[in-house]
Amino acid sequence: MKSDIANAQKPSEAVRRLNALKLELEDDWSTVVSVQWGETPKLAPSPQKLIPQTKPTDAGSALTPAIQLLGLSKSYGARQVLRNLDLAIREGEFVAIIGRSGCGKSTLLRLLGGLERPEAGKIQFAPSNHDPAIRIMFQESRLLPWKTVQENVALGLGRTQTSKDIVQKTLAKVGLADRANDWPARLSGGQKQRVALARALVHSPDLLLLDEPLGALDALTRIEMQSLIEELWQQQSFTAVLVTHDVQEAISLADRIVLIEDGRITLNESINFPRPRARGAAAFAQLEERILRQVLRQTN
Ligand SMILES: Nc1ncnc2c1ncn2[C@@H]1O[C@H](COP(=O)(O)OP(=O)(O)OP(=O)(O)O)[C@@H](O)[C@H]1O
Ligand SMILES: [Mg+2]
Repeated sequence: MKSDIANAQKPSEAVRRLNALKLELEDDWSTVVSVQWGETPKLAPSPQKLIPQTKPTDAGSALTPAIQLLGLSKSYGARQVLRNLDLAIREGEFVAIIGRSGCGKSTLLRLLGGLERPEAGKIQFAPSNHDPAIRIMFQESRLLPWKTVQENVALGLGRTQTSKDIVQKTLAKVGLADRANDWPARLSGGQKQRVALARALVHSPDLLLLDEPLGALDALTRIEMQSLIEELWQQQSFTAVLVTHDVQEAISLADRIVLIEDGRITLNESINFPRPRARGAAAFAQLEERILRQVLRQTN
């Protein structure tokens, strides 16, 4: 049975949507918007992710996609933001969404996270995992200031020893094992985002949605965080959709770059460079220039 978030007639869909919206409304402080859609079997790691060079260039053509956007449209009042979008995302794939400010990147992410309803079209998840666990991470860490680092990461987990161990392990993965008892106010911006990342990953999401999570960080911290995200994505095998303004960041991290212009996908390109990617490489720079030229052409 396929999941169709456009179809709110089904009781399970209505409950799912209500829960997602409730979480967003009630927990404005939340770093991660929990859209845990029921008991979901974990996905097997994607074999493609480990050897990105061998991926097919036409995304979704060789394997059944984990997520499919079919004729997705969204308007706010008279303003049409997304127009008839089709996109297939493979299990374990890292997709970057780029585009000018206001082109609808966050709207697309919110639709994927079940926080908005499409006006037309639908989002289908693969039958093997039609209720994926989804987490969203934003530009602001949205940590609860009255909870310690480890309490922030533990939100939504039980208070068992196993949960405590998982929190501690996840904090170690993001390099903050020694800051578990600190208050968020004592952390730098980059450290706060590490906590936010830990808070998302502690739930072992199938799909991690990232809305410019590194946008407010300085250049060096940003590069460090990019490496960390890439490393954890490779370890944990989740599907990632990253919204970013930064073409270099998109090329560094993504298997595929999707450009949205005027509500439509105008570029959908696989990146087959081996990982970790060398920013100084000629092919990297050429690709960056070509994509940047396309992003900027509207103003030229
Ligand atoms: N809740 C809303 N109500 C009305 N209009 C909205 C709403 N959310 C977004 N929009 C409009 O939809 C368009 C796309 O917004 P969105 O936030 O998706 O853009 P974006 O690509 O993420 O931009 P940015 O890069 O600046 O974050 C914008 O014109 C915005 O004003
Ligand atoms: Mg946005």
